[in-house]
Amino acid sequence: MITEIKNKTLYFDGCNTVELAEKYGTPLYVMSETAIVERCREIRETFLSKYERTRAAYAAKAFLTLSMCKIIEREGLCMDVVSGGELYTAIKAGFPAEKIELNGNNKSVEELELAIEYGIGRIIVDGLDELKLIEEICREKERKVNILYRITPGVKSDSHDYIVTGKKDSKFGIPLDDDVIFPAVEQAVNSEHVNFMGFHFHVGSQLHNNESHLKALETALKLIKNTKDRYSYVTPELNIGGGFGIRYTDVDDKKPYSYFLDPMMERIEEFSRELKITRPEVVIEPGRSIVGEAGITLYTVGTIKDIKGIRKYVSVDGGMTDNIRPALYQAVYEGIIANKADEPKNEIVTICGKCCESGDVLIRDAKTAEPERGDIFAIFSTGAYNYTMASNYNKNPLPAAVLVKEGKSEIIVKRQDYEHMTANEVIPEYLK
Ligand SMILES: Cc1ncc(COP(=O)(O)O)c(C=O)c1O
Repeated sequence: MITEIKNKTLYFDGCNTVELAEKYGTPLYVMSETAIVERCREIRETFLSKYERTRAAYAAKAFLTLSMCKIIEREGLCMDVVSGGELYTAIKAGFPAEKIELNGNNKSVEELELAIEYGIGRIIVDGLDELKLIEEICREKERKVNILYRITPGVKSDSHDYIVTGKKDSKFGIPLDDDVIFPAVEQAVNSEHVNFMGFHFHVGSQLHNNESHLKALETALKLIKNTKDRYSYVTPELNIGGGFGIRYTDVDDKKPYSYFLDPMMERIEEFSRELKITRPEVVIEPGRSIVGEAGITLYTVGTIKDIKGIRKYVSVDGGMTDNIRPALYQAVYEGIIANKADEPKNEIVTICGKCCESGDVLIRDAKTAEPERGDIFAIFSTGAYNYTMASNYNKNPLPAAVLVKEGKSEIIVKRQDYEHMTANEVIPEYLK
Protein backbone atom coordinates (compact mmCIF):
# COMPACT_ATOMS: atom_id res chain seq x y z
CA MET A 1 0.00 0.00 0.00
CA ILE A 2 1.45 3.36 -1.04
CA THR A 3 -0.84 5.25 1.34
CA GLU A 4 -1.13 4.16 4.97
CA ILE A 5 -2.21 5.62 8.28
CA LYS A 6 0.14 4.91 11.18
CA ASN A 7 0.34 6.69 14.55
CA LYS A 8 -2.51 9.04 13.52
CA THR A 9 -0.37 10.18 10.58
CA LEU A 10 -0.49 9.78 6.83
CA TYR A 11 2.41 7.77 5.38
CA PHE A 12 3.19 7.78 1.68
CA ASP A 13 5.45 5.09 0.22
CA GLY A 14 6.72 4.42 3.74
CA CYS A 15 7.44 8.08 4.57
CA ASN A 16 5.82 10.04 7.37
CA THR A 17 4.27 12.96 5.47
CA VAL A 18 4.38 15.32 8.46
CA GLU A 19 8.13 14.74 8.75
CA LEU A 20 8.50 15.32 5.01
CA ALA A 21 6.70 18.65 5.37
CA GLU A 22 9.00 19.61 8.28
CA LYS A 23 12.14 18.56 6.46
CA TYR A 24 11.47 20.03 3.00
CA GLY A 25 8.86 22.72 3.72
CA THR A 26 5.48 23.19 2.03
CA PRO A 27 3.94 23.25 -0.50
CA LEU A 28 5.72 20.05 -1.42
CA TYR A 29 5.20 17.65 -4.31
CA VAL A 30 5.84 14.09 -3.14
CA MET A 31 6.29 11.44 -5.82
CA SER A 32 6.30 7.73 -5.02
CA GLU A 33 8.88 5.83 -7.03
CA THR A 34 7.22 2.56 -6.03
CA ALA A 35 3.92 3.66 -7.57
CA ILE A 36 5.55 4.88 -10.79
CA VAL A 37 7.50 1.64 -11.16
CA GLU A 38 4.36 -0.38 -10.51
CA ARG A 39 2.52 1.33 -13.40
CA CYS A 40 5.51 0.82 -15.70
CA ARG A 41 5.55 -2.84 -14.70
CA GLU A 42 1.86 -3.15 -15.58
CA ILE A 43 2.59 -1.65 -19.01
CA ARG A 44 5.46 -4.06 -19.56
CA GLU A 45 3.52 -7.13 -18.44
CA THR A 46 0.18 -6.43 -20.07
CA PHE A 47 1.35 -4.74 -23.25
CA LEU A 48 5.07 -4.70 -24.10
CA SER A 49 5.79 -8.34 -23.21
CA LYS A 50 2.39 -9.60 -24.26
CA TYR A 51 2.54 -8.18 -27.78
CA GLU A 52 5.63 -8.17 -29.98
CA ARG A 53 6.71 -4.98 -31.71
CA THR A 54 5.16 -2.54 -29.28
CA ARG A 55 6.53 0.53 -27.51
CA ALA A 56 5.31 2.77 -24.71
CA ALA A 57 6.43 6.39 -24.82
CA TYR A 58 5.84 8.14 -21.50
CA ALA A 59 4.11 11.49 -22.13
CA ALA A 60 6.56 13.77 -20.35
CA LYS A 61 4.08 16.65 -20.10
CA ALA A 62 2.41 14.82 -17.19
CA PHE A 63 5.49 15.10 -14.93
CA LEU A 64 9.02 15.76 -16.11
CA THR A 65 12.24 16.19 -14.18
CA LEU A 66 15.75 14.89 -14.80
CA SER A 67 15.17 12.13 -12.23
CA MET A 68 11.90 11.14 -13.87
CA CYS A 69 13.80 10.66 -17.16
CA LYS A 70 16.17 8.30 -15.36
CA ILE A 71 13.27 6.24 -13.96
CA ILE A 72 11.54 6.05 -17.34
CA GLU A 73 14.74 4.94 -19.05
CA ARG A 74 15.46 2.35 -16.37
CA GLU A 75 11.90 0.99 -16.67
CA GLY A 76 12.35 0.42 -20.40
CA LEU A 77 9.96 3.03 -21.75
CA CYS A 78 10.45 5.58 -24.51
CA MET A 79 9.61 9.27 -24.07
CA ASP A 80 7.10 11.56 -25.76
CA VAL A 81 8.04 15.26 -25.58
CA VAL A 82 6.19 18.31 -26.91
CA SER A 83 8.64 21.17 -26.71
CA GLY A 84 12.29 22.12 -26.97
CA GLY A 85 12.36 22.38 -23.17
CA GLU A 86 11.04 18.86 -22.62
CA LEU A 87 13.40 17.54 -25.27
CA TYR A 88 16.34 19.37 -23.69
CA THR A 89 15.45 17.96 -20.25
CA ALA A 90 15.39 14.40 -21.56
CA ILE A 91 18.68 14.81 -23.43
CA LYS A 92 20.29 16.51 -20.41
CA ALA A 93 19.30 13.49 -18.31
CA GLY A 94 21.08 11.26 -20.84
CA PHE A 95 17.86 9.78 -22.22
CA PRO A 96 18.66 8.03 -25.53
CA ALA A 97 17.64 10.36 -28.38
CA GLU A 98 16.43 7.51 -30.57
CA LYS A 99 13.84 6.62 -27.90
CA ILE A 100 12.32 10.11 -27.95
CA GLU A 101 9.33 11.21 -30.02
CA LEU A 102 8.39 14.84 -30.54
CA ASN A 103 4.72 15.80 -30.62
CA GLY A 104 3.17 19.29 -30.74
CA ASN A 105 0.75 21.28 -32.86
CA ASN A 106 3.11 24.22 -33.47
CA LYS A 107 6.73 23.19 -33.32
CA SER A 108 9.14 26.02 -33.97
CA VAL A 109 11.94 25.76 -36.53
CA GLU A 110 14.40 25.82 -33.60
CA GLU A 111 12.63 22.91 -31.93
CA LEU A 112 12.61 20.88 -35.14
CA GLU A 113 16.28 21.66 -35.73
CA LEU A 114 17.16 20.61 -32.20
CA ALA A 115 15.20 17.36 -32.57
CA ILE A 116 16.87 16.54 -35.88
CA GLU A 117 20.35 17.42 -34.59
CA TYR A 118 19.86 15.22 -31.52
CA GLY A 119 18.75 12.41 -33.83
CA ILE A 120 15.45 11.71 -32.07
CA GLY A 121 13.45 8.63 -32.94
CA ARG A 122 10.24 10.11 -34.34
CA ILE A 123 8.63 13.43 -35.11
CA ILE A 124 4.84 13.33 -34.98
CA VAL A 125 3.96 15.82 -37.69
CA ASP A 126 0.85 17.97 -37.33
CA GLY A 127 0.44 19.17 -40.93
CA LEU A 128 1.88 19.46 -44.41
CA ASP A 129 3.56 22.80 -43.73
CA GLU A 130 5.44 21.19 -40.84
CA LEU A 131 6.57 18.39 -43.14
CA LYS A 132 7.96 20.98 -45.54
CA LEU A 133 9.93 22.62 -42.71
CA ILE A 134 11.31 19.24 -41.65
CA GLU A 135 12.30 18.41 -45.22
CA GLU A 136 14.16 21.71 -45.53
CA ILE A 137 16.04 21.15 -42.28
CA CYS A 138 16.89 17.56 -43.22
CA ARG A 139 18.10 18.67 -46.67
CA GLU A 140 20.36 21.30 -45.09
CA LYS A 141 21.72 19.00 -42.41
CA GLU A 142 21.85 15.94 -44.69
CA ARG A 143 19.78 13.97 -42.22
CA LYS A 144 16.75 11.72 -42.57
CA VAL A 145 14.10 11.52 -39.87
CA ASN A 146 11.26 9.14 -39.05
CA ILE A 147 7.87 10.80 -39.04
CA LEU A 148 4.25 9.94 -38.34
CA TYR A 149 1.22 12.06 -39.09
CA ARG A 150 -1.03 12.98 -36.21
CA ILE A 151 -4.58 12.75 -37.51
CA THR A 152 -7.74 14.31 -36.13
CA PRO A 153 -9.94 11.22 -35.96
CA GLY A 154 -13.13 13.24 -35.42
CA VAL A 155 -14.32 11.43 -32.30
CA LYS A 156 -15.71 13.00 -29.15
CA SER A 157 -14.37 11.47 -25.93
CA ASP A 158 -16.17 11.46 -22.62
CA SER A 159 -13.99 13.90 -20.66
CA HIS A 160 -13.70 17.61 -19.92
CA ASP A 161 -13.75 19.69 -23.12
CA TYR A 162 -10.26 21.06 -22.41
CA ILE A 163 -8.69 17.60 -22.40
CA VAL A 164 -10.60 16.21 -25.38
CA THR A 165 -8.31 16.32 -28.39
CA GLY A 166 -9.67 13.99 -31.07
CA LYS A 167 -12.83 15.85 -32.15
CA LYS A 168 -12.98 17.41 -35.59
CA ASP A 169 -12.94 20.97 -34.24
CA SER A 170 -9.46 20.69 -32.75
CA LYS A 171 -6.13 22.46 -33.04
CA PHE A 172 -4.41 19.08 -32.94
CA GLY A 173 -3.75 16.85 -35.90
CA ILE A 174 -4.49 16.79 -39.60
CA PRO A 175 -8.14 16.88 -40.66
CA LEU A 176 -9.17 13.83 -42.64
CA ASP A 177 -10.68 15.58 -45.65
CA ASP A 178 -9.40 13.77 -48.76
CA ASP A 179 -7.91 16.93 -50.24
CA VAL A 180 -5.94 17.59 -47.04
CA ILE A 181 -4.74 14.22 -45.82
CA PHE A 182 -3.88 12.50 -49.11
CA PRO A 183 -1.59 15.20 -50.55
CA ALA A 184 0.19 15.13 -47.19
CA VAL A 185 0.50 11.33 -47.27
CA GLU A 186 1.70 11.40 -50.88
CA GLN A 187 4.37 13.94 -50.06
CA ALA A 188 5.58 11.92 -47.07
CA VAL A 189 5.60 8.63 -48.97
CA ASN A 190 7.71 10.14 -51.76
CA SER A 191 9.98 12.31 -49.64
CA GLU A 192 13.74 11.72 -49.80
CA HIS A 193 14.18 13.37 -46.42
CA VAL A 194 11.80 11.48 -44.17
CA ASN A 195 10.85 7.89 -43.49
CA PHE A 196 7.07 7.84 -43.33
CA MET A 197 6.23 5.49 -40.46
CA GLY A 198 2.47 5.93 -40.29
CA PHE A 199 -0.31 7.56 -38.31
CA HIS A 200 -0.83 8.79 -34.77
CA PHE A 201 -3.96 9.72 -32.85
CA HIS A 202 -4.65 10.84 -29.31
CA VAL A 203 -8.32 11.15 -28.46
CA GLY A 204 -8.22 12.82 -25.05
CA SER A 205 -7.24 12.39 -21.45
CA GLN A 206 -8.65 10.92 -18.22
CA LEU A 207 -10.84 8.41 -20.10
CA HIS A 208 -12.64 5.56 -18.38
CA ASN A 209 -14.22 3.92 -21.40
CA ASN A 210 -12.60 2.74 -24.58
CA GLU A 211 -15.26 3.83 -27.08
CA SER A 212 -13.43 6.82 -28.52
CA HIS A 213 -10.14 4.89 -28.76
CA LEU A 214 -11.91 2.13 -30.69
CA LYS A 215 -13.70 4.58 -32.98
CA ALA A 216 -10.49 6.48 -33.69
CA LEU A 217 -8.74 3.19 -34.35
CA GLU A 218 -11.25 2.33 -37.10
CA THR A 219 -10.54 5.70 -38.72
CA ALA A 220 -6.80 5.11 -38.58
CA LEU A 221 -7.11 1.59 -39.99
CA LYS A 222 -9.17 2.91 -42.89
CA LEU A 223 -6.41 5.41 -43.57
CA ILE A 224 -3.76 2.67 -43.50
CA LYS A 225 -5.83 0.75 -46.06
CA ASN A 226 -6.32 3.82 -48.25
CA THR A 227 -2.60 4.58 -48.11
CA LYS A 228 -1.85 1.04 -49.24
CA ASP A 229 -4.47 1.14 -52.02
CA ARG A 230 -3.51 4.58 -53.34
CA TYR A 231 0.28 4.55 -52.96
CA SER A 232 1.12 0.84 -52.55
CA TYR A 233 2.70 1.85 -49.25
CA VAL A 234 2.26 -0.07 -46.02
CA THR A 235 2.87 2.11 -42.99
CA PRO A 236 5.00 0.17 -40.49
CA GLU A 237 3.83 1.89 -37.30
CA LEU A 238 0.65 3.05 -35.56
CA ASN A 239 0.59 5.31 -32.49
CA ILE A 240 -2.66 5.15 -30.53
CA GLY A 241 -1.83 7.86 -27.96
CA GLY A 242 -2.53 7.92 -24.24
CA GLY A 243 -5.50 9.11 -22.24
CA PHE A 244 -6.00 6.19 -19.85
CA GLY A 245 -7.88 7.46 -16.81
CA ILE A 246 -6.87 7.35 -13.14
CA ARG A 247 -8.65 7.54 -9.82
CA TYR A 248 -8.99 11.02 -8.36
CA THR A 249 -12.13 10.26 -6.33
CA ASP A 250 -14.54 7.34 -5.87
CA VAL A 251 -16.49 8.54 -8.92
CA ASP A 252 -13.59 7.57 -11.21
CA ASP A 253 -13.95 4.05 -12.53
CA LYS A 254 -10.27 3.35 -13.20
CA LYS A 255 -9.55 0.51 -15.62
CA PRO A 256 -6.39 -1.55 -16.17
CA TYR A 257 -4.34 -0.83 -19.32
CA SER A 258 -5.52 -4.13 -20.78
CA TYR A 259 -9.11 -2.87 -20.86
CA PHE A 260 -8.06 -0.29 -23.46
CA LEU A 261 -5.24 -2.09 -25.18
CA ASP A 262 -6.42 -5.70 -25.63
CA PRO A 263 -9.43 -4.90 -27.81
CA MET A 264 -7.37 -2.46 -29.87
CA MET A 265 -4.57 -4.99 -30.39
CA GLU A 266 -7.10 -7.66 -31.32
CA ARG A 267 -8.66 -5.36 -33.89
CA ILE A 268 -5.28 -4.28 -35.34
CA GLU A 269 -4.21 -7.91 -35.67
CA GLU A 270 -7.48 -8.88 -37.34
CA PHE A 271 -7.21 -5.93 -39.73
CA SER A 272 -3.61 -6.83 -40.63
CA ARG A 273 -4.58 -10.43 -41.36
CA GLU A 274 -7.45 -9.28 -43.60
CA LEU A 275 -5.19 -6.86 -45.46
CA LYS A 276 -2.39 -9.44 -45.59
CA ILE A 277 0.15 -7.01 -44.15
CA THR A 278 2.57 -7.28 -41.26
CA ARG A 279 0.85 -5.87 -38.21
CA PRO A 280 2.21 -2.34 -37.67
CA GLU A 281 4.37 -1.73 -34.61
CA VAL A 282 1.98 -0.28 -32.03
CA VAL A 283 2.96 2.61 -29.77
CA ILE A 284 1.12 4.07 -26.78
CA GLU A 285 1.75 7.41 -25.03
CA PRO A 286 0.53 7.17 -21.44
CA GLY A 287 1.23 10.14 -19.17
CA ARG A 288 -1.31 10.69 -16.41
CA SER A 289 -1.81 6.97 -15.78
CA ILE A 290 1.89 6.48 -14.93
CA VAL A 291 2.34 9.37 -12.50
CA GLY A 292 -1.08 10.72 -11.49
CA GLU A 293 -1.72 8.53 -8.46
CA ALA A 294 1.99 8.38 -7.68
CA GLY A 295 1.97 11.96 -6.41
CA ILE A 296 0.55 13.86 -3.45
CA THR A 297 0.97 17.51 -2.49
CA LEU A 298 1.54 18.61 1.10
CA TYR A 299 0.43 22.05 2.30
CA THR A 300 0.42 23.87 5.61
CA VAL A 301 -2.93 25.19 6.79
CA GLY A 302 -3.02 28.94 7.50
CA THR A 303 -6.04 31.20 7.86
CA ILE A 304 -9.39 29.56 8.57
CA LYS A 305 -12.57 31.57 7.98
CA ASP A 306 -15.89 30.25 9.15
CA ILE A 307 -18.63 32.20 7.39
CA LYS A 308 -21.57 31.21 9.55
CA GLY A 309 -24.23 29.29 7.67
CA ILE A 310 -22.32 29.54 4.41
CA ARG A 311 -18.90 27.91 4.31
CA LYS A 312 -15.66 27.36 6.15
CA TYR A 313 -12.62 28.40 4.11
CA VAL A 314 -9.39 26.64 5.02
CA SER A 315 -6.48 28.39 3.30
CA VAL A 316 -3.28 26.54 2.49
CA ASP A 317 0.13 27.91 1.51
CA GLY A 318 -0.16 26.94 -2.17
CA GLY A 319 -3.09 26.76 -4.58
CA MET A 320 -3.66 27.37 -8.26
CA THR A 321 0.05 28.10 -8.72
CA ASP A 322 0.96 24.50 -7.94
CA ASN A 323 -2.32 22.87 -9.04
CA ILE A 324 -4.19 24.79 -11.72
CA ARG A 325 -6.48 21.88 -12.63
CA PRO A 326 -9.47 22.71 -10.35
CA ALA A 327 -9.50 26.32 -11.60
CA LEU A 328 -8.79 25.37 -15.21
CA TYR A 329 -11.27 22.56 -15.67
CA GLN A 330 -13.08 21.99 -12.41
CA ALA A 331 -10.95 18.95 -11.56
CA VAL A 332 -12.01 17.27 -8.33
CA TYR A 333 -9.54 16.06 -5.69
CA GLU A 334 -9.63 14.41 -2.28
CA GLY A 335 -7.43 15.24 0.66
CA ILE A 336 -6.79 14.61 4.34
CA ILE A 337 -5.24 16.37 7.31
CA ALA A 338 -2.05 14.34 7.41
CA ASN A 339 -1.38 14.84 11.14
CA LYS A 340 -4.99 13.91 12.07
CA ALA A 341 -5.33 11.07 9.60
CA ASP A 342 -7.28 8.77 11.91
CA GLU A 343 -9.66 11.39 13.34
CA PRO A 344 -13.33 11.38 12.35
CA LYS A 345 -14.09 13.62 9.38
CA ASN A 346 -16.93 15.60 10.85
CA GLU A 347 -16.32 18.91 9.10
CA ILE A 348 -17.13 20.02 5.59
CA VAL A 349 -14.70 22.72 4.48
CA THR A 350 -13.43 24.41 1.34
CA ILE A 351 -9.68 24.04 0.84
CA CYS A 352 -8.50 27.18 -0.92
CA GLY A 353 -5.17 28.54 -2.05
CA LYS A 354 -3.44 31.82 -1.28
CA CYS A 355 -3.68 33.42 -4.74
CA CYS A 356 -5.68 36.57 -5.42
CA GLU A 357 -8.42 34.80 -7.37
CA SER A 358 -11.74 33.66 -5.97
CA GLY A 359 -11.43 30.65 -8.25
CA ASP A 360 -8.31 29.56 -6.39
CA VAL A 361 -10.08 26.67 -4.69
CA LEU A 362 -8.41 23.26 -4.50
CA ILE A 363 -11.24 21.20 -3.01
CA ARG A 364 -14.85 22.21 -2.53
CA ASP A 365 -16.74 20.59 0.33
CA ALA A 366 -13.93 18.40 1.60
CA LYS A 367 -14.81 16.18 4.56
CA THR A 368 -12.05 16.62 7.12
CA ALA A 369 -11.15 16.36 10.77
CA GLU A 370 -11.26 19.71 12.57
CA PRO A 371 -8.67 21.91 10.82
CA GLU A 372 -6.29 24.20 12.72
CA ARG A 373 -3.53 26.57 11.66
CA GLY A 374 -0.31 24.59 11.26
CA ASP A 375 -1.96 21.32 10.21
CA ILE A 376 -0.47 19.56 7.20
CA PHE A 377 -3.04 19.01 4.47
CA ALA A 378 -2.33 16.34 1.86
CA ILE A 379 -4.06 16.25 -1.53
CA PHE A 380 -4.02 12.92 -3.36
CA SER A 381 -3.41 12.06 -7.02
CA THR A 382 -1.53 15.24 -7.85
CA GLY A 383 1.32 13.52 -9.69
CA ALA A 384 0.19 14.47 -13.20
CA TYR A 385 -0.25 17.92 -14.69
CA ASN A 386 0.44 19.72 -11.40
CA TYR A 387 4.19 20.33 -11.20
CA THR A 388 4.40 20.67 -14.98
CA MET A 389 1.60 23.25 -15.06
CA ALA A 390 2.82 25.27 -12.07
CA SER A 391 3.26 29.04 -12.33
CA ASN A 392 4.72 31.98 -10.45
CA TYR A 393 1.40 33.84 -10.25
CA ASN A 394 1.48 36.39 -7.41
CA LYS A 395 5.24 35.75 -7.43
CA ASN A 396 4.82 32.57 -5.47
CA PRO A 397 7.97 30.46 -5.84
CA LEU A 398 7.59 27.00 -7.38
CA PRO A 399 7.45 24.26 -4.71
CA ALA A 400 10.11 21.61 -4.19
CA ALA A 401 9.56 18.00 -5.25
CA VAL A 402 10.80 14.91 -3.47
CA LEU A 403 10.96 11.32 -4.61
CA VAL A 404 10.02 8.80 -1.94
CA LYS A 405 10.55 5.08 -1.89
CA GLU A 406 9.99 2.60 0.94
CA GLY A 407 10.55 5.12 3.71
CA LYS A 408 13.40 7.07 2.09
CA SER A 409 13.14 10.52 0.50
CA GLU A 410 15.36 12.43 -1.91
CA ILE A 411 14.95 15.94 -3.24
CA ILE A 412 14.49 15.96 -7.04
CA VAL A 413 13.51 19.62 -7.52
CA LYS A 414 14.76 22.31 -5.15
CA ARG A 415 12.32 24.93 -3.96
CA GLN A 416 12.58 28.07 -6.09
CA ASP A 417 13.71 31.12 -4.15
CA TYR A 418 12.84 34.80 -4.68
CA GLU A 419 16.25 35.51 -6.19
CA HIS A 420 15.87 32.74 -8.77
CA MET A 421 12.34 33.90 -9.56
CA THR A 422 13.51 37.40 -10.44
CA ALA A 423 16.87 36.39 -12.00
CA ASN A 424 15.74 37.00 -15.60
CA GLU A 425 14.26 40.41 -14.92
CA VAL A 426 16.07 43.50 -16.14
CA ILE A 427 15.55 47.18 -15.26
CA PRO A 428 16.15 49.46 -18.29
CA GLU A 429 18.70 52.21 -17.62
CA TYR A 430 16.10 55.00 -17.68
CA LEU A 431 14.11 53.39 -14.85
CA LYS A 432 17.07 52.96 -12.53
C1 LIG B 1 -0.27 13.58 -28.09
C2 LIG B 1 -0.47 13.19 -26.68
N1 LIG B 1 -0.02 12.00 -26.27
C3 LIG B 1 -0.17 11.60 -25.00
C4 LIG B 1 -0.78 12.40 -24.06
C5 LIG B 1 -0.88 11.91 -22.66
O1 LIG B 1 -2.18 11.77 -22.24
P1 LIG B 1 -2.48 11.16 -20.80
O2 LIG B 1 -1.68 11.91 -19.83
O3 LIG B 1 -3.93 11.34 -20.61
O4 LIG B 1 -2.11 9.71 -20.86
C6 LIG B 1 -1.27 13.64 -24.44
C7 LIG B 1 -1.96 14.50 -23.46
O5 LIG B 1 -2.48 15.52 -23.70
C8 LIG B 1 -1.12 14.06 -25.79
O6 LIG B 1 -1.56 15.23 -26.23
